[in-house]
Parts: sequence; C-alpha cells; structure tokens
Amino acid sequence: MTLDETLQAAFAAAFPGEDFSLVRVLPATDPKFGDYQCNDALKFAKKMKMNPREVAAKVVAALDKAAFEKVEIAGPGFLNLTVSTDWLNARLGELAAAEKCGIPQRGAGKKVVIDYSSPNAAKQMHIGHIRSTVIGCALDRLFRALGYTVVADNHLGDWGTQFGILIKGYRECLTDDERAHLTVATLEKCYVLSAAKAKEADGVWKDACRAELVKLQQGDADNLALWKKFIDISIGEFERMYRKLGVKFDTYRGESYYNPMMPGVVEKLRQLGLAEESEGALIVNLDAEKLGVAIVRKSDGGYNYTTSDLACVESRVADYDPERIIYVTDDRQQLHFRQFFSIAAKMGYTTQLVHVPFGLMSYQGKAISTREGNLIKLDDLLSEAVRRSLAIVAPRGGDERLAEQIGIGAVKYADLSHDPATAIDFNWDKALALEGNSGPYLQYAYARVCSLMEKAEGTDGTEGTDGGSGGTDGASGGPAPLPVEGLFRVATPSEKRLALQLLEFPGAVVRAAEAYKPSVLADYLFQTAQLYSSFYQNSPILKSEAAVRAARLKLCALFGDILKTGLNLLGIETPSHI
Ligand code: ARG
Repeated sequence: MTLDETLQAAFAAAFPGEDFSLVRVLPATDPKFGDYQCNDALKFAKKMKMNPREVAAKVVAALDKAAFEKVEIAGPGFLNLTVSTDWLNARLGELAAAEKCGIPQRGAGKKVVIDYSSPNAAKQMHIGHIRSTVIGCALDRLFRALGYTVVADNHLGDWGTQFGILIKGYRECLTDDERAHLTVATLEKCYVLSAAKAKEADGVWKDACRAELVKLQQGDADNLALWKKFIDISIGEFERMYRKLGVKFDTYRGESYYNPMMPGVVEKLRQLGLAEESEGALIVNLDAEKLGVAIVRKSDGGYNYTTSDLACVESRVADYDPERIIYVTDDRQQLHFRQFFSIAAKMGYTTQLVHVPFGLMSYQGKAISTREGNLIKLDDLLSEAVRRSLAIVAPRGGDERLAEQIGIGAVKYADLSHDPATAIDFNWDKALALEGNSGPYLQYAYARVCSLMEKAEGTDGTEGTDGGSGGTDGASGGPAPLPVEGLFRVATPSEKRLALQLLEFPGAVVRAAEAYKPSVLADYLFQTAQLYSSFYQNSPILKSEAAVRAARLKLCALFGDILKTGLNLLGIETPSHI
C-alpha cells in the first residue's frame, strides 16, 4: 500500500461515503516537520464546513500506523508524518528490485506523437535549433519510459515559396562544381544570392522564381527532382547533427507530406461553416476567443502554415489515433498553435493537442542574430563542446569519446536544467563546470559511484579507501553499479534524507512528463546528487563493519542506478569513468 492509499483509507474510515481518491501525501517541506505531510484535512474541512483539527484528529484515530514512527497534527490541521525505519527499508528494497527504477507504466497501451526539432530544409541548423531538439528528445524518452508508444516525428519545413528561389538560384547562381558537390551550406548560399536578385526593381528574377515554384507545385518532373535532392541533402545534414546528439526520429513527415491534403481540409472547413471568404482569402474567424483571424487559403490560392497543421492533425489521427500530440517550438509560435488547436477542436478532433513553447536562447550573454554575427552553427557549437571537454578530460587520460559524452551532455543539460518556458543564456563556463548544477557534475557523481562499486568489489573491507575518482582511463558506457547483497539499513539522518529522496524518483519522472518539463527531472537529479554527496561525506563506507558497509553500498548502488536512468531520460550519457 502506498502512503497515499494508507491516508485515503484513513479518511474513508473516518468519514464513510465520501470520495477521498484525491488525498495525497507530500514530502515534508522541512525535515523538522517529519518526512511527509498531508494537507487534505484542511481541504476536506473547508468543503464540509468542519473544524480542520477535528477532521485531522478523526483521520489520525482511524489511521493504520504501521508505517509510522510518529504522526502529529500541526497548526490548523496539517498531518506531519514520520515514517518508521522498517517501512523505509522495505520501500527501498522494493524500489531497488523494481523494473525501470519503479517508473509506473501509466502509458501502457497509449500513443503520443511528439513533433520536435522540425527545422526548415536547405538551411544549416544553428544554435536556435537546439532547444526544440533537446527538449523534444527528453520528452520522447520520458514518455517512452512511462510505457507510452511514442511516434517521434520531425515536421520539416520542406515546402513553400523558398523552393522557387532555390531552384532558380541552383540553375543560375552556382558553379558546376558546386552543383556536383551540393551541400546544405551551398544551398544556403544559393538562397541568399537568388533572394537578393529577386529584390531587383525590374522584378524579372522574382517572376522567374515564382514560375519555378508554380512548376514545382504542378508536379514538373525536373523541379520535383531538384526539390527532392535539396530535401535529401538537408535530411542527410540534419541526421549528422542528430547522430551527434543521440536523437532518432521515427518519421520525417515534413510540410510537403500534407500538401496534397490541404484542399480537402479547406473543403471540410467550408462544409462545417467554419471558414468564410474575406478579401479573396478564406479565413476562420476566432474573434470570439480573442484569437483573431486565421487565414486558411490566401488570396492567391496558396495554403499556409495553419492549413498544413490542420491537415497534419487529420493525418496523424487517421494513422496513429494518438491520445495526444505534443508540439515543441519556440514561444513566438504560440498564437499559431492556439489558433489551429481551436479550429481543430471545432472540426471535432478530440485528440489532446499540446504546445510546449520554449523561450529564446542567447549565447554568452548576446542575442542570437544573423545581423550581430552571433548565429552560431549547431555543428560548431557541438564541436566546440567536445573540444573544450577534451581539454578537461585529456589530462586525466580521457579520450575523444569521453569528451563527446561530456561535451554533448553539458550542452543538453544546460538547456534541460531550465524550465522550457524561460529564456536561457548558454554559457560555456556554467555548462562545463564540474561543480554546481551542470551535466558534468552529475556525470562525475555517477562515475564516482561506479568507482566506489569497483573498489568495493575488489576489497575485503580492509584495503578500501573512500573518496577519489578511481580509474582514469576514458572507458565509456559501462554497467550500472553492481547489485549489492544484504538489506537496506537506514540509520543516520543523511542516509534517511537520501533514502526519502530516492523514493521520489518515479514521481519525479511522472511529474516531468505530465508538466512537459524535463527540468523537473533535472532538478530532482541535482538535489539527489547533493544529498548523496552529503551522505557520502558523512558516512564512511568501505571501512565500515560488514553489515553497515553492505547497507551503505546498497544505498550508493540505488543512487547510481537512479542517476543513470534519470540522466539517460534526459538524453545524457553516463560514462563509468571520468
Ligand atoms: N518548421 C517550423 C519552424 O522551424 C516548426 C514546425 C513545428 N511543427 C509543427 N507541426 N508546426 O519554425
């Protein structure tokens, strides 16, 4: 029985006939109040217009106290709960034995689509793309860990007016050699050259671009082949970044995939009476919801982003029937998502549509902008991360592979440790700090547990010395800390605090996923590592007598397991030696 259930049963026994399924036990805000607290006597008393302390007293009288060392009614009617050591040790044993560190499989049988990264084709990815990719990937892993079937879909921007400009530019602005060895960088250059010519006053180039676009849209074989070539090259380049970042998509259905479905969507909107003509365009008026007007077909007959996303919902519902679709984009697209979610609801779609907006990222205190020359390529950022990490690990014998694990982990953690909704600044010193709330700090904490476990295995308890980082070879990956025989025996305050925190892991995973905030898990891991560190400093391990040594090692192993699992959910690797 969980503590929630124990308290629910006590409320139900004290007040028969009421529904107490929402009664919750929360970690105590301050250890001096006990280990846990339950504030529901106050809520219930308010609802029933009763005296909260009396409600609390009745609940305490009905409470099965087997799990508790102490139960107190405090203040206006809070229940402060101190658990017994036996209860704590038993829970730790269950957690250590549980599959997947006890993460509840609440998504079993359910499907979600996560639409993330989604860069525009024919352009290089820059640091502005990191947030959608990294946050999306963490959500992807969190939802999979909870048992959901996840479709990770990269909604590429692979259709639109830019392709007329690119096709014209490809034919006339590039050299034979550039055409023969086409790269995304060349495509980018080609776009810049052609777009500049399209601005010329006579309008000749612009019209020619427009004509190429129309040909492409009408299915002209040559233009389609060129477009396909641009897309393939772009995806090849994106995948090179995704490999570096350890990100994998199930599908790459870009905007072009939905293009043939657009007329049908517009027709449906008309039939439902949702769309109306306005100055030659077709619009959906959302004034009633204060969302303005969404254009679904422009006056020149072209469709736009809203229409494409509506077609996309239709297609995803038909293909996957997901319980929700999650979109990870920057917060400047909020209006777009509100508009099209509202239209989708009016069209009768019941799939939960969720926008996870993230704030802008600046780089070393400066806004990211082309004009300021601060538009850093993602490739360069990742290379620099590895280069800087190598400088840190090489003196200790670490190799390139270890530097990749640390550097990429640092970049990811620098993002994921912040609430997605906030704007963030990327700073090298902070991202790579070995102390403080950083990826390397947590990876290092994991490596230390691994080295402790190795020493424990190799000693009989007399040779071992605590502390130190152990091995210095750059070995990567490696097994999780060894399972340790014996029983959990929590005794000291620092052991207890760590133990209580470890029990919160499954809940932290659930909260991170349900709030769409990987930062909830990052915060949890950082706090856990800090509690581990104070336990480790206060408690001799290898030199303790056998039963204490075994019990402490078990706590270390469980911490290691949870840290590894948690970091991996954030997409961060856990080398066993640093
Ligand atoms: N390609 C868009 C951009 O770069 C993001 C697409 C997000 N997904 C979506 N279904 N609208 O801003």
